[in-house]
Amino acid sequence: MPTEETLVLVKPDGVARGLTGEILARIERKGYSLVDLRLVEPSRERLAKHYAEHEGKPFYEPLLEFMMSGPSVAIRLTGDRVIEGFRSLAGTTDPTSAAPGTIRGDLGRDWGLKVQQNLVHGSDSQESAARELSIWF
Ligand code: RTP
Ligand code: MG
Repeated sequence: MPTEETLVLVKPDGVARGLTGEILARIERKGYSLVDLRLVEPSRERLAKHYAEHEGKPFYEPLLEFMMSGPSVAIRLTGDRVIEGFRSLAGTTDPTSAAPGTIRGDLGRDWGLKVQQNLVHGSDSQESAARELSIWF
């Protein structure tokens, strides 16, 4: 199986809280390699493409507003099984129940908002990774 790539985002809450370095350090300590990295203030159009699967869900508008609230760091990350591996590092979507030891479990919490602010995004399949990397890079 060829080496995979994935899209990781440090979302606006992670950047605003000064956790970009901590998150990058965890990724690097795990052994994955950075291929490209940029600070992005995404347009609504870019986010609508990225989150097309969630259109119509109750958290969709709050999600787009949250993702437009400040810059994100977009990372092209590579390594064998990096898609699965980064999702494991990130932890589950809800930071309250995400396992300790994960990025969301250690650094995230519920802020009582209409959408979960959970610090990072990671592509969930090879198809999503290819699609999302073309949106952000
Ligand atoms: P991601 O796509 O960001 O890596 O996260 P995920 O797969 O764990 O979560 P997904 O279901 O794809 O949802 C995308 C993002 O929407 C926000 N969300 N909030 N009920 C809620 O408040 C809720 N559900 C989803 C989160 O920011 C989630 O990461
Ligand atoms: Mg997702």
